[in-house]
Amino acid sequence: MTSYNVKISGQELEFACEEGDTILRAALRAGVGMPYECNSGGCGACKVEVLNGEVENIWEDAPGLSPRDIKKGRKLSCQCIPTEDLEIKVRLNPEAMPLHKPIKGKAVLFEINKLTEDMAEFCFKTEHPAHFKAGQFALLDFPGITGSRGYSMCNLPNEEGEWRFIIKKMPDGSATTTLFEDYEVGAEIVIDGPYGLAYLKPEIPRDIVCVGGGSGLSPEMSIIKAAARDPQLSDRNIYLFYGGRTPSDICPPKLIEADDDLRGRVKNFNAVSDVEAAEAAGWNGDVGFIHELLGKTLGEKLPEHEFYFCGPPPMTDALTRMLMTEYKVPFDQIHYDRFY
Ligand code: FES
Repeated sequence: MTSYNVKISGQELEFACEEGDTILRAALRAGVGMPYECNSGGCGACKVEVLNGEVENIWEDAPGLSPRDIKKGRKLSCQCIPTEDLEIKVRLNPEAMPLHKPIKGKAVLFEINKLTEDMAEFCFKTEHPAHFKAGQFALLDFPGITGSRGYSMCNLPNEEGEWRFIIKKMPDGSATTTLFEDYEVGAEIVIDGPYGLAYLKPEIPRDIVCVGGGSGLSPEMSIIKAAARDPQLSDRNIYLFYGGRTPSDICPPKLIEADDDLRGRVKNFNAVSDVEAAEAAGWNGDVGFIHELLGKTLGEKLPEHEFYFCGPPPMTDALTRMLMTEYKVPFDQIHYDRFY
């Protein structure tokens, strides 16, 4: 297979990029700490300047670039495929150096577990072991659908090659519509991973707060499972806050109850945001936004915790704002990957 050489300007560092791979994915496969978050064009964390050589841009209008970036000739390394040898300018991030180098390979769907009306756990198996950190994500390619989709694993790393994802059916999502309506056990896709920096850091000596909304529950389940099984963390409190629109979205209680390590170990709080649906269902739990419930529950103690969250942008924005401005939680205690 053809491969191109990518040199990082001002540093004695270069790596090979196989034909069709993006600059970012190739860098991470080579163990290079290229900055990134979403790996899908949305966040802008992976901007680079291409000093020499040509690239093909796989998503011209990716929201990760502002008009000013475009004017300055910046590119998103997660959206650029080299078509010849390159020289790029980028400030590397030692924290982005992969603990497990991403691998791309075929995966077979072997189980589907329905969780709510529009959310299910899809379980795939690869021939290679599923090596990742709890909280990371993988990029999934579905035959016939253009582009990769990022989904976080909800299980723990394993040698058997099992990759489990909690996925929500999106009303206008071509990939999730295909997955929910057409896929059956035995279907094949391609999994590329792991990616992501918002993984559990057990060495940090603070209680753990996970917050999820929608399919953002997936990485939080992985994190609470890893934390609950880690003997070093036996004295820590582990919290899971989950926000749904209606009571029928609230599946964490049954997931926690079904897991011997989580039952009695994880403190679970849930809120629903649709007042009418809550009343109609006779919901006697919290009504409102999940960040409000978090503030009400832990209040002034919030700065003593380490936060991991994943969910829709309005949720992650509101949480970050509340934690940092109202409760003065330092930014380095907050871990999430921006999927927008
Ligand atoms: Fe490239 Fe987010 S990592 S735009």
